[in-house]
Amino acid sequence: MDRLSFILFGHAAFQYLNAACELGLLDLLAERGPLSEEEVREQLGLQERACAVLLLGSTALGLTVKDGSGYRVADLVASLRADGTWQKIKDTVAFEQDIVYEGQADFAESLLRNTNVGLRRVPGDQPDLYQRLGGNPRLESVFYRYMKSWSELANTHLVHTLDLTHTRRLLDCGGGDAVNAIALARHNPGLEVTVLEIPASAGMTAASVERAGLSERVSVQPCDMFADPFPSGMDCVLFAHQLVIWTPEQNTALLRKAHAALAPGGRVVIFNSMSNDEGDGPLVAALDSVYFAALPAEGGMIYPWRVHERCLREAGFGAVERFPVPGWTPHGIIVATKEAP
Ligand SMILES: C[S@@+](CC[C@H](N)C(=O)[O-])C[C@H]1O[C@@H](n2cnc3c(N)ncnc32)[C@H](O)[C@@H]1O
Repeated sequence: MDRLSFILFGHAAFQYLNAACELGLLDLLAERGPLSEEEVREQLGLQERACAVLLLGSTALGLTVKDGSGYRVADLVASLRADGTWQKIKDTVAFEQDIVYEGQADFAESLLRNTNVGLRRVPGDQPDLYQRLGGNPRLESVFYRYMKSWSELANTHLVHTLDLTHTRRLLDCGGGDAVNAIALARHNPGLEVTVLEIPASAGMTAASVERAGLSERVSVQPCDMFADPFPSGMDCVLFAHQLVIWTPEQNTALLRKAHAALAPGGRVVIFNSMSNDEGDGPLVAALDSVYFAALPAEGGMIYPWRVHERCLREAGFGAVERFPVPGWTPHGIIVATKEAP
């Protein structure tokens, strides 16, 4: 029953985490703890009952610890703050709360209708989440803060796995705020990157590249990557957190365009979460699939490695290599090469 009751009230557990972040409880205790209940109440401006609820939940869930009459932050939170990961977790919490949470209530119906029914919870009438973000500056900033943090939780491995010593031109398809393009360009001083991004977000992408001081080597091309041609003569094409959004058929179509844009010997890289080929985990891949089934576009999921590999073969790629990424996120990297005809 322990596991079932945790699942049964999983939404409440998340709300405690969100409230503890949003109201500043965890940062307060990390910076000033241990504090008594009265001190927490005073610092957070909460009434007695409200503070008691918050501390009951955060302590029962192990986010905070009660020693005698004082509360302190859990060791895990303290160590995540120390190594710089905590802000990335908070960015992820805000994304789950402000963008994901409501739409996931349509998960069962999304499965039944095999489409993203949950998008109806996001204001706008555009056909996918990304185009709707353009009309919602607050949600757009929550989304891209999260996307940058989620990428940064794993893209050091991308930068170190991908040998770009002899690569001159890289295409980053649906590059978001260019977080991965920037990391790759910084690590490879001879690399030029073109980022494809929808017109509604391309200005945000260009501003981010400019802030990084990389406008001379990283350019942004506003486009619809499904409808518009890819620039040709690329040595490498990157899909980062991209092929989890669409159906396998749409992914194969994108990979075919990547194949056509590459010179023989060029490589395509898929960087996103992966589920295992047996279809039973890892748990984070399964949990994250609810979002991709219910919200951003008609149909995606955290696909097993083998589904990406099948799409790559259908698109004409030859040699395929897998690189699992260590850590708690289920990230993986697939590199495939375009062989000579
Ligand atoms: C999940 S985000 C990933 C962003 C970035 N690659 C990263 O890893 O942080 C998907 C991105 O693809 C972009 N996108 C969606 N549809 C697109 C399209 N048809 N053409 C170009 N970009 C698109 C979105 O605007 C969004 O920035």
